[in-house]
Amino acid sequence: MLLFTTVAEYRTQRADWRGKTVALVPTMGALHEGHQALIRKAGTLADVVVVSIFVNPLQFGPQEDLAAYPRPREQDLAICEQLGVDAVFYPSPLEMYPDGQDSLTRVVPPATMTERFCGAFRPGHFEGVATVVLKLFSIIQPDFAIFGEKDAQQLAIIQKMVRDLNLPVRIVPHPTLRDGRGLALSSRNQYLKAPQEQEAALCLSQILVGAQQALKAAEAPLPAEETLVRLQDAVLSPWQTGPVSVRVQYLAAVDAVTFQPTAWLKPGVRVLVAAYVNQVRLIDNCLLS
Ligand code: PAF
Repeated sequence: MLLFTTVAEYRTQRADWRGKTVALVPTMGALHEGHQALIRKAGTLADVVVVSIFVNPLQFGPQEDLAAYPRPREQDLAICEQLGVDAVFYPSPLEMYPDGQDSLTRVVPPATMTERFCGAFRPGHFEGVATVVLKLFSIIQPDFAIFGEKDAQQLAIIQKMVRDLNLPVRIVPHPTLRDGRGLALSSRNQYLKAPQEQEAALCLSQILVGAQQALKAAEAPLPAEETLVRLQDAVLSPWQTGPVSVRVQYLAAVDAVTFQPTAWLKPGVRVLVAAYVNQVRLIDNCLLS
């Protein structure tokens, strides 16, 4: 497996890969099963698989602890090696932002896509994500890039950037991985220590499954707000009293492409949920069919 820490070294290799297809899996490291599925998918799409590992300072807010973000370098490289990854791009912040961050040219996604949901609680986050992803596309020059559907807002913003800027890369969404009980896999699940917290975390997927079932049963569009509030109340009611607090931060139905709220639950609409289980913030979503 090749390891590149500079853009110049990677570019030399990329020239040798001319005529081959390249699939990129962009990550911030601390690779878990979800990333591993993206890497395996990449292997089915292209001749060459590149994983980028870069903890992007641009997407962290002032209150978010960039320094504390895990960086298990050797473990991540071993996982990539095991999965047969061809090359890892592992740049330093200086390599990515040699002129610093203050005077940087940035990608500004439309406010309509960033001002709600996760973006409302993390100002500047999606600007940081879009900027680094554009840089990675420009450096790695992939034919395909794989992103998890779990971060649905991020995925929609990147798809919009690719359309708007005519980037020559195909975005391949990968379905969210779930455990046997439906919990979306996330590195944050490790903070759910008590069994009751793990049980409470199922509320998110239960609301989503409830929305899908309600739509199937109705066989017609359902009013989004009324239906979601009813589902939320039903799923959360057993947790109103007891040692674990479950607090929904947002629950909404959006157009899967524009990410604008929609009034109706119908096939093609994405339902989004973010909730705190005690102090642990979790997100999940599903595309209604
Ligand atoms: O989803 C992530 O891990 C990051 O936001 C990404 C896409 C690698 C950009 O830093």
